[in-house]
Amino acid sequence: MRCTWSGPGEPTNHVRTVPLTDGTRTRSHLAAITAAQPAAAVSSTGSRPAVPAVRLAGVVKQFGNDEQGRRVTKFAAGRAGEGIVAVAGIDLEILDGEFFSMLGPSGSGKTTTLRMIAGFERPTAGRILLHGQDVTELPPFERDVNTVFQDYALFPHMTVGENVAYGLMVRKVPRADRDARVGEALRMVRLEGYERRRPGQLSGGQRQRVALARALVNRPRVLLLDEPLGALDLKLREEMQIELKGIQQEVGITFIYVTHDQQEALTMSDRLAVFNRGRIEQVGTPADVYERPATRFVAGFVGTSNLLTGGTARAIVGSDRTFTVRPEKIRLTDPDSAPHPDETSALGTIREVIYLGPDTRYIVSLDAGGELVVAQQNLATSSMEALSAKGRAVRLTWKRQHNLPVADG
Ligand SMILES: Nc1ncnc2c1ncn2[C@@H]1O[C@H](COP(=O)(O)OP(=O)(O)OP(=O)(O)O)[C@@H](O)[C@H]1O
Ligand SMILES: [Mg+2]
Repeated sequence: MRCTWSGPGEPTNHVRTVPLTDGTRTRSHLAAITAAQPAAAVSSTGSRPAVPAVRLAGVVKQFGNDEQGRRVTKFAAGRAGEGIVAVAGIDLEILDGEFFSMLGPSGSGKTTTLRMIAGFERPTAGRILLHGQDVTELPPFERDVNTVFQDYALFPHMTVGENVAYGLMVRKVPRADRDARVGEALRMVRLEGYERRRPGQLSGGQRQRVALARALVNRPRVLLLDEPLGALDLKLREEMQIELKGIQQEVGITFIYVTHDQQEALTMSDRLAVFNRGRIEQVGTPADVYERPATRFVAGFVGTSNLLTGGTARAIVGSDRTFTVRPEKIRLTDPDSAPHPDETSALGTIREVIYLGPDTRYIVSLDAGGELVVAQQNLATSSMEALSAKGRAVRLTWKRQHNLPVADG
């Protein structure tokens, strides 16, 4: 996605970032920047108001069924002339200082929602409030928000220093102050000494860090990040997740983080919203969403879709509802072993064994119908032992409390 707007004060940045290994130094620099000039919207007493940082009320986004509309997913495609509903009515409150993730599959409306908060898209219906102020009609540069996009939006003809300083220049921040803030921002992302380079002379990871510095230097109250780690390899990504979370905690800026990676959302977020087909299926802490998924969709998207439905649920759990069971809660035992009274149990046959190093996944065909995935740590099991289990008859047991009822949504 390209940012089309380049007005004052709101450079929208595309970031690919590498780990900031010296966390202490990074954070102290960032804290120094923020402490030097607190965000304008902090009240005169220094305390943050209790209103949510972001509030979406009945937000709908329908795109015209025009040339662009052709790239819509099937669910969203309306009849000819009707347009496509990308966001189908969202109510959401994001608290001040929260690390909030929007998680969902491709095409579920995450980026569209983020762009409406930033002001790059106008909702078809509903209101958007930032710190209590209705900003629905305001252009991006009048919102105390910055965006970091997945792909680059650095100005290629400008140096790194000029890129980071851009928003401050447009806002006519005095030179001395500007230089100090740019220097601090670059130190924070560990790019001191790169001021005079141009984006074309940087690695992808370094360009991402410039983009992050360019957003943070403006000290927005809300930072929007759209899959900023998407292009990094797994190891860098995991390191950067921890660093980003550390930076966020240190500066206290509200981060709204879009990802389709459930692990990333669970690792980083204070709370997350699970998107599906333009709607939010569940909002909660990572533990809420993982341990108490509200719907079948959430159970499958945030974790493994281990469902007991219909006749299988009746035979195993004794209920007609739909249940999910997390794979790590299930024990593999001998078919003759007797389960405890507080346990649910099912007989089956190991159909497939997937050896993953630290643990192994067993796909078990149940005698009562259906399948369950069982995850076992390889505490004392070698890969050979694990793999030889294929075809074996087993009894699965798990605590009754781990039968999680889910709605069929
Ligand atoms: N400008 C547009 N015109 C028409 N349809 C659009 C436009 N932007 C997005 N859409 C459609 O709206 C739906 C939601 O798109 P969106 O980009 O918000 O999804 P997403 O959750 O960010 O997906 P991804 O994970 O692939 O980035 C999709 O069906 C998409 O094709
Ligand atoms: Mg997107």
